[in-house]
Amino acid sequence: QVIAVIFGGRSVEHDVSVLSGLQFLEALDPGRYEGLPVYVDALGQWWTGAALLKRSRYPLTEKAPKDLTPVQLDLATPANGRPQLVGTQKGLLGEKRINLPFDLMVPAIHGSNGEDGTLSGLLDFAGVPYAGCRTLGAAATMDKAFAKRTARAAGLKVLPELVVKRPKAGTFLDADQLMKDLEAATGPVTFPYIVKPNNLGSSVGVSKAKDADGLVAALMSAFRLDSEVIVEPFVANLTEYNVAVRRDADGTILTSAIEEPMRDADLLDFKNKYLAGGTPGGAKLDTGPSEGMASLNRTLNPPSLSAAEDAFIRETASAIFDALSLAGSVRIDFLCNRESGDIWLNEVNTIPGSFGYFLWEAAAKPISFLALTAAMIEEGFRLS
Ligand code: DAL
Ligand code: MG
Repeated sequence: QVIAVIFGGRSVEHDVSVLSGLQFLEALDPGRYEGLPVYVDALGQWWTGAALLKRSRYPLTEKAPKDLTPVQLDLATPANGRPQLVGTQKGLLGEKRINLPFDLMVPAIHGSNGEDGTLSGLLDFAGVPYAGCRTLGAAATMDKAFAKRTARAAGLKVLPELVVKRPKAGTFLDADQLMKDLEAATGPVTFPYIVKPNNLGSSVGVSKAKDADGLVAALMSAFRLDSEVIVEPFVANLTEYNVAVRRDADGTILTSAIEEPMRDADLLDFKNKYLAGGTPGGAKLDTGPSEGMASLNRTLNPPSLSAAEDAFIRETASAIFDALSLAGSVRIDFLCNRESGDIWLNEVNTIPGSFGYFLWEAAAKPISFLALTAAMIEEGFRLS
């Protein structure tokens, strides 16, 4: 079976996605599957070619890489039978139409236009079998504010938030109104606040505002990345706990090891997450992709977590996975105030970095990345 893995994309999480895509391709069982890399560049053009498998190939800077072929998805797939990519290859004898049939697509694009239901919607429309979450679950969880409202309605604890929309061109943020809205949404205004783009991940654009001026500045800078930005109270002594969730072939919901990502600053930002020094793989995206999420400094099965908290996180994560009919390997992130013991749902990542394989390898019943890719592919066929 030919498994097309699509990665890259137009979101700011492009580099992380390249790693997740390549890692998935490398973890395919060669006895069962043949990988077909599909790279989406920052402009949205799709490319294929064996050269994409070389990590040293990134970042792709040429306008028209000679060793790659521009392709597009054949939207008439149901009529044509097997899904296929179509394109035009330039050769010595002129141009040649090519068709590249495949059996299933694995979305490995994080963030907008990948993780938010748009890509799965396209694949639904074209009748292409795919791995991971269906369109509804992907869309409902990518929008952080929407996911939090849903979780709150279901009785889950989440931090309060204010959603601020990007001012229309030529208009400005009204700082006085902003403070009133903030008080209405989060209670008496107490700085600092955390500011984050509503539809992005990997901590891109996340910052901490220490006063009203800082808040306006943080919002304006986040508006460059997203048209909606959320403001949440900053909680001191905050610890993050993340857990991956998936469904076994027999329908049982499984949870992975729990991780506590490590950081040295107040915020787990992009630099802390992916560029931390001394990690395997070098960890500098501009000199070639590092191991990304897999190399993030973390504690697995953290001793700071009591047995009751561990159980609470697993039960809550499994309930969310079930309620939203999620699929694939999803990572659900929690926040905990270590002083009070309060635990809040932070967010749901339907396409987590590296598909969270290192969490599964460390699970109580460990599974290898190879077994994880096979399970995700077979589930994808069942759901499509
Ligand atoms: N959005 C990144 C990839 C993550 O949460 O893992
Ligand atoms: Mg995330």
